Amino acid sequence: MIEISQLSFRYREGADPILKGIDLSIPDGAFVGVTGAAGSGKSTLTYAINGIIPHCYPGDFYGSVRVDGVDTCEASLTDISRLVGSVCQDIDSQMVSSVVEDEVLYGLENFGVPKTEIPARVDEALAAMGIAELRDRSIAELSGGQKQKVAVASVLALKPRVLVLDEPTAELDPASSVAVFDLLKRYSVEHGTTVIVVEQKIALLSEYVDTLVIVDEGEIRFCGTPHEVLEHSDKLLEIGVNCPRSTSLVNRLRARGLVCGPAVCTVEGAVCACEGLLSGKGACA
Ligand SMILES: Nc1ncnc2c1ncn2[C@@H]1O[C@H](COP(=O)(O)OP(=O)(O)OP(=O)(O)O)[C@@H](O)[C@H]1O
Ligand SMILES: [Mg+2]
Repeated sequence: MIEISQLSFRYREGADPILKGIDLSIPDGAFVGVTGAAGSGKSTLTYAINGIIPHCYPGDFYGSVRVDGVDTCEASLTDISRLVGSVCQDIDSQMVSSVVEDEVLYGLENFGVPKTEIPARVDEALAAMGIAELRDRSIAELSGGQKQKVAVASVLALKPRVLVLDEPTAELDPASSVAVFDLLKRYSVEHGTTVIVVEQKIALLSEYVDTLVIVDEGEIRFCGTPHEVLEHSDKLLEIGVNCPRSTSLVNRLRARGLVCGPAVCTVEGAVCACEGLLSGKGACA
């Protein structure tokens, strides 16, 4: 369980708080998506969960963040990283080795995983990300998308209770992005791992997550199931969040009383709503 209570944070160099009064409870095993406009504070929110703030970026920290009951201000960064595995937005800053296999090994050795377990963990993580053939490659020679996959494989190998991934598909093509979300979802269900993903592709996010969190100027503006949040497509647009076109289309039809039912997240959902409308069953009473 992650419990964020009245969290506010101002970077030491910054004039104003970047996070303002954040309250968020995330149950074990939840799959949570975070999105919002550029600069709204999404990465800073992930830093609060993985302990980077206040441990690496000092500043004014108010409120509390607890992961499995551990207060991230009181615990050491090493202890937090045993609970929370992170993939940063800036992948290059995260890489510590020059060869792919060593990058995955590094965390396992650092965490004191028994030597006999390590080869299987490395194989499993590389295979899960579909990058077994990159094993002996130099990281400097990989594409941005390949590096992202290495970074995700490195944290998966550690089997943390919580995974925090900051835009893990930013450099990936659409098919690879879907593959990463498929993997994360499956992984979360199989291992009971809590997954928190920051992602700009809201359509993709909405298809996978249980809870969608919209951050706006350091505050949580909306938090709920994708269907609940996407009902507010006009307000979301005002704060720089572009809903899927299927959502906006159906929301406009709903606003005109032409279709009923919840907001849709997918083209398939929009097709169903339009079929209902065309067959005369969709109109609201
Ligand atoms: N280390 C830092 N010191 C001072 N200010 C910072 C620092 N890191 C981020 N900020 C500021 O905090 C604000 C929020 O940044 P953050 O990176 O959390 O936003 P974001 O929503 O992740 O943006 P993006 O979508 O571009 O990744 C920005 O105004 C940024 O300039
Ligand atoms: Mg960011």
